[in-house]
Amino acid sequence: MSESYVGISWNRQKKIYDAIIGVVVLIYLALFIGVGSLLHPTSTIETLLIRGFGTAAILSLHIVLIIGPLCRLSPKFLPLLYNRRHLGVATFFLGLVHGGIATFQFHALGELNPFVSILINNTRFDSVPDFPFQILGLAALIILFLMAVTSHDFWLKNLTAPVWKTLHTLVYIAYGLLIAHVALGVLQAETNPILAVSLGIGMLLVVGLHLTAAFKESKTDTEEPNGKGDYVEVCSVDEIPENRACIATVSGERVAVFKYDGKVSAISNVCQHQNGPLGEGEIIDGCITCPWHGFQYEPETGASPPPFTEKVPTFNVKITGGKVLVDKTPNKAGTRVEPVSIDG
Ligand code: HEM
Ligand code: FES
Repeated sequence: MSESYVGISWNRQKKIYDAIIGVVVLIYLALFIGVGSLLHPTSTIETLLIRGFGTAAILSLHIVLIIGPLCRLSPKFLPLLYNRRHLGVATFFLGLVHGGIATFQFHALGELNPFVSILINNTRFDSVPDFPFQILGLAALIILFLMAVTSHDFWLKNLTAPVWKTLHTLVYIAYGLLIAHVALGVLQAETNPILAVSLGIGMLLVVGLHLTAAFKESKTDTEEPNGKGDYVEVCSVDEIPENRACIATVSGERVAVFKYDGKVSAISNVCQHQNGPLGEGEIIDGCITCPWHGFQYEPETGASPPPFTEKVPTFNVKITGGKVLVDKTPNKAGTRVEPVSIDG
């Protein structure tokens, strides 16, 4: 894993991704405000802005959440995954503008500090129609803020991959808080079913796609063959630097062969997170560490250390006359393979 980080650098692909996000958000807001003011001529611009930015934020959060399972179901969606963090940060900014205008509109004109006002203005926690739903929006916004500010690789390195990943898993808590924010807030008085129906479809998509991807993965886990004992030579032991790998293509699959502590192990080169090249990473704290965002895998099992559950296929290895030979058939993801000792 690289030890030094540069400021965010926007390459051509990232610029196109960000430009598309910007244009789509602008078109959405223009349509929302335009159509909204025609259908509800009595609505104020503040109300239209609060609702426009709020719905844009939750729509964008749904897209962020379904990109992961879509890519696990089909690699066609991978281009969406590469810069998903940009969409996550855009979601935070949309939520921030929505929450900012709402806070200004409903809490800034009294004596109290606006944030204190959100927290204590309404304490009817026992009432469904009058529930203090804005507190839920504020809690979700704090989580989205923490994720946005730690989205750069600098934080991934400094917080360590396990802490960073746990922090970013909080997005599911934020999602739950926001569903409650809308269901206990605006939906309590809304007579037009469009928001409730859209939210229902969105939740079905998020939950359904996660379950489908998990089911598909559990099926491939059990169907995958284990090594057949048909070996091909990939590189010589001396070519591999300590704690690093040589990458080879074996039967069309990219394999990373790591050398560490006098031993050799081979796992798939493809990281479970965003298909990063594991063989370009190094072994840190006993784990193969992906060079892109720091996901870690044990070299003997291809499994992430607990509490994480990612697994990649492992390969049986032999050393003959200083050359590393790899079994052409992968073991199913997470299968333990005893590392081969270099001294024989
Ligand atoms: C300080 C934080 C927040 C405050 C004070 C706040 C406040 C509000 C208020 C007052 C409404 C009702 C608007 C209306 O009745 O027209 C609302 C609705 C909504 N909020 Fe929030 N909110 C916050 C954070 C968020 C965040 C972070 C999101 C999404 C990422 C969000 C998404 C929504 C959505 C989708 C609606 C329904 C929009 C509609 O009226 O059609 N809110 N919020
Ligand atoms: S691709 Fe993100 S950690 Fe490997």
